[in-house]
Amino acid sequence: MAQAIGWRRGAHLALQHSVAKPTVWLLGLLPAVWLLWGAIANTLGANPAEALIRSTGDWALRLLCVALAVTPLRVTLGVPALARLRRDVGLLCFTYTCIHLLCYAWLDMSLVLGDIWHDILKRPFILVGMLSWVILLALALTSFNAAVRSLGARRWQLLHRTVYAVAGLAVLHFFWMRSGKNDFAEVAVYAAILAVLLGWRLWRRLASRSAQLKR
Ligand code: HEM
Repeated sequence: MAQAIGWRRGAHLALQHSVAKPTVWLLGLLPAVWLLWGAIANTLGANPAEALIRSTGDWALRLLCVALAVTPLRVTLGVPALARLRRDVGLLCFTYTCIHLLCYAWLDMSLVLGDIWHDILKRPFILVGMLSWVILLALALTSFNAAVRSLGARRWQLLHRTVYAVAGLAVLHFFWMRSGKNDFAEVAVYAAILAVLLGWRLWRRLASRSAQLKR
């Protein structure tokens, strides 16, 4: 028991420390630096453009899962200071989607806006990816304290619940992209993780509602 309290206190103090946020950004940006180095050193394989687009998409989805796992972990582990890092992980996810979009627009589409527009209309998985990025953009732009104040807590909360739509669209994007190759193993892993995280929130909401009704 004393050990558990000691562990929580240690984690709480570490997460409250001024280096916690820079450390998250440093660790979160390591894959991007690794990919950039790979592109410069030409070690990304036969198709570097595809490797860059796919790896940045993978990291965006991983970070989305981590951002959505922060609250369940904070509650189940009993470490409130974890909440301090949620915005940073969310912004890191957004950063990877921006690099992903930039790699696609630049390396696949040579930055020709007309071609990008036609691709959005032609390939549904690109349309779905764009949709999820537009929602993420709105969430990133309103992730700062000034936006919470100007929107009001209730409206801000409603807007930020659309992160689950982003998760659903991102998995659909991945699913659609892989459906051509009938390769769904990785997609199923991400879908299962996101279903557990969403299920946890629904379960908590139902539990608190039934507790309110009993009172
Ligand atoms: C901004 C709009 C987006 C565009 C234009 C876009 C475009 C693409 C393209 C062209 C591919 C590679 C297809 C191929 O190699 O055949 C891809 C793959 C992928 N994208 Fe996106 N995407 C977007 C948004 C997103 C978002 C928001 C996420 C996740 C949060 C995401 C996650 C992924 C994943 C996981 C893959 C598959 C990587 C793999 O095969 O390992 N994408 N996307």
